[in-house]
Order: sequence, then C-alpha cells, then structure tokens
Amino acid sequence: ISNDNQSVLSAYEWLTKLYHHLLRYAKDGKEGYQYFNDRGISDEAIDIFQLGYAPNLKDFTAEFLNKKGFNQAILVKAGLLSLQDDNSVTDRFRGRVIFPIRNNVGKTIGFGGRTISGGEPKYLNSAESELFQKSKLLYNFDLAKKHIRKENEVILFEGYMDVISAYQADIKNVIATLGTSLTEGQAKLLKRYVDTVIICYDGDKAGLEATYKAANLLRKVGCQIKVANLEDNMDPDNFIKMHGGEAFNNEIIQASDTYISFYMRYLMKDYNLSLEGDRINYIEAIVKELAMIESSVEREYYLQQLSKEYNISIETLASEIERHRQHKG
Ligand code: UTP
Ligand code: MN
Ligand code: MN
Ligand code: MN
Ligand code: MN
Repeated sequence: ISNDNQSVLSAYEWLTKLYHHLLRYAKDGKEGYQYFNDRGISDEAIDIFQLGYAPNLKDFTAEFLNKKGFNQAILVKAGLLSLQDDNSVTDRFRGRVIFPIRNNVGKTIGFGGRTISGGEPKYLNSAESELFQKSKLLYNFDLAKKHIRKENEVILFEGYMDVISAYQADIKNVIATLGTSLTEGQAKLLKRYVDTVIICYDGDKAGLEATYKAANLLRKVGCQIKVANLEDNMDPDNFIKMHGGEAFNNEIIQASDTYISFYMRYLMKDYNLSLEGDRINYIEAIVKELAMIESSVEREYYLQQLSKEYNISIETLASEIERHRQHKG
C-alpha cells in the first residue's frame, strides 16, 4: 500500500471518528442524530456502524484535516475533498448523515452520505479511487463474515439501511452491494465463504432486474441461490420497520423462492398470460429452463406445479423437457 493511500486511510479513520462523535454528542450533529432516531436506528447500531454526521459547512472537514497536517492534494485526488473552480478546497460531504464503508478487514475506505433534507443525489458516495472500488466491495462483509460462515448462508441486500435494520433485528449474516449490480468478482468472493446466497433486493422493477442478473452470476460461480419476494415499493428496511425482524425472517427469508419459482415470476412481466399465444410461449420458456435442472426430483416437482397451474398434462410437459434435454446433451 502506497504512502498516499496510507494517508487517505488515516484521514478516513479521523473523519469516521469525528463525524460519529458529532452525531452522537455534539450540537452540530443533532440533525443527523434526529434523522436516524426518526428512522428507528438505535444508539447501539449507530455505534456499531459508526454512523456520523458531516455538518453543513463549506470547509469544516478541509480545515480539520489541514490542522492534522494532511496533504490536501492527496485527499482531493482520493475524492475525500472537492476542488472548486477557483482551486480552493471544500468539503465533499455537507449536511449529510455518513455511512462509513469498511473493507474486509474493517478499515474505512469510503463514505456514503445521505441527504437528510431531500437533496440530490440521495446518496453521495466517495469518488471511485484505487482504494475505494464499489464493484469489489460488499458492505458489512467484515462484520457479517463469521455469521455467514456459521449459517452457511448470506442475505444480500441493496443498501446501507437494509443491512443496518436487519443487523439491529439480530439478523447478522447480511451484506449489500450498494445499489450497483453484483459483479463476478463479488460473486466469486462470496462463493469462497458460503454455499447459499439469499438475494433480497428491493421489490421494485430495478430490484427485480438486478436480482435476475445477480442470480445468474451466482449460479455461474456455483452458489445455491434463493430469492426473497418483497412487494413492489417495499424494501427490506421498510418491511422490518413495519412488521419486525421476526416476520421478516419467517415471511421473507424462510419463505424465499427457489430460482425456478423466481424465474416463473420474473418472466411473467414479459407475457400477457390471458392470451393463449403468450401463455404457450411463457410455458415453453419455463420448460426450457426446467430442462437445465440436473436433479430429476426437482424437475418433477416443478413440472407438477406447471401442469397444475396451466392445466397441461404431465406427459406433454415431460416430453417437452426430454426434447430440450437431448438438445442440450
Ligand atoms: P435505494 O434507492 O434502494 O436506497 O438504493 P435505500 O438504501 O433504500 O435508501 P433509503 O432507505 O431511502 O435511505 C440502494 C442503495 O444504492 C445506493 C446506496 O448504497 C443505497 O443504499 N445509492 C442509491 C447510491 O449510491 N446513490 C443514490 O443516489 C441512491
Ligand atoms: Mn461510539
Ligand atoms: Mn432500490
Ligand atoms: Mn431501497
Ligand atoms: Mn430504503
């Protein structure tokens, strides 16, 4: 690790403490504390995740780091501070609550800053740099690791708040991709630690599309997957706030779908199943997917389900599947 990166890490360590302290104990951080309070985040969770607040000031952070003797050019390059048109250095995070983003060994390497006043963007993150690469990161992986190993299962969320809500509800094998789609690198990393990944993205259209992509990547690297089914306009944090952690575990996590059940649900969006032609194409698409399942017991199970639901004889479906399997082999 270069001297510059060492210096950036040290700056992040200082700022994590500073922002957290302000939020927790200072008048300057009260708005931030109030925000988390309103969202039901406990003091304990605030401490575990080192949540903080960056005051709404132009150069509060720049001044602080300057006094500590940090080289501003390095911090600008790392995207921790911003450069203005007149070459003066200003704070990147202003009037935002701060989510420190830790690497796999627990060191802060970036911040997510959420507006508390409806500004844009909703979340401003540290700029991408050598040290901070979202595509290689899994939020909370450092704390979740031992729980993931113990359960041999991990729950994958979209966002900071999903992770913190679940953790607070004592569901601790939880991580997040921070809004970006899962990458092959992240999938391979997970595979080293765990057999089963439960994908629990938001219930909106974006979440559904991201789920499809993540599911296939994870399957490709050899993970077993399950898919949680949240209603449209629900995310895990909302659900937990509304119904509690136990309901989340029982009704969402334990009840999550197999890949095929998810796929049936996912594909439906492209078809109008009240039309005969669409229905046939839909069933044909599912059958193709079923043909790829190696376990004959599992194939049989879904075949029954399909047969019942669309009133097609088991024999017809079975011979279709056989046809596809021979094609494949
Ligand atoms: P969401 O839009 O689902 O936000 O984005 P959220 O996590 O539910 O946030 P709250 O509950 O409104 O506070 C999921 C994740 O995508 C990233 C963040 O990591 C967020 O947690 N994101 C989202 C950004 O980086 N920038 C954005 O502007 C929005
Ligand atoms: Mn603390
Ligand atoms: Mn979302
Ligand atoms: Mn969300
Ligand atoms: Mn949310």
